[in-house]
Amino acid sequence: MQKPVRIAPSILAADFSRLGEEVAAISEAGADFIHVDIMDGHFVPNISFGPAVTKAVRGCTNKPFDCHLMISPVDPYIADFVDAGADIITLHQEAGAHLHRSLQLVKSHGIKAGVSLNPATPASTLEGIMDDVDLILVMSVNPGFGGQKFIPSQLDKIRTLRAMIDASGRDIDLEVDGGITAETAPLAIEAGADMLVAGSAVFKGGPTQYAANIKALLGTA
Ligand code: DX5
Ligand code: ZN
Repeated sequence: MQKPVRIAPSILAADFSRLGEEVAAISEAGADFIHVDIMDGHFVPNISFGPAVTKAVRGCTNKPFDCHLMISPVDPYIADFVDAGADIITLHQEAGAHLHRSLQLVKSHGIKAGVSLNPATPASTLEGIMDDVDLILVMSVNPGFGGQKFIPSQLDKIRTLRAMIDASGRDIDLEVDGGITAETAPLAIEAGADMLVAGSAVFKGGPTQYAANIKALLGTA
């Protein structure tokens, strides 16, 4: 069942020179989760930061850390992100040959396991693991960079996954990530998403704007 919409600001769009303050500010402004984008320059063509930086800012909020690992291989680094304070670890369907094993590895640490699909990867690739996942993340841009344009074809995938989740009867969050703005957020929600990741749309204008930016995504501005 689609839950009330929750906002997960991506700190990829924060001011890295003041990252701890940014995490605190966005939490106070109404973030439900802190979305942490990890990029390795191999699975995606960009490098962000790793477990040490994640751990360093973990104490700046009590909001759950939603760690999106755009890395391959992923299994050798899961324990490091658990140690850094991840509450959810989402890895990519495309990042390795043994998705089920990777999800079990995340769950063996007692945290939530998520799986993300790149724009070209169909929803049907998750049919065999619906019992093993707590969150599904639809990439609505090609992963690697903030500030890209929403890919509208991903709305049909969100609809398909909403039906698959509802049919499973399981408590699975449906998250969308990339190009989410006040214009695209309602489309994603209407299609069935109940967690919105947003980087540039939330961090634009600096800390005085964060609360208003989050409200604009929720349509409560
Ligand atoms: C892209 C990341 C996203 C990104 C979102 O690879 O996974 O979380 O930072 O940024 P915006 O909201 O600017 O598209
Ligand atoms: Zn992300």
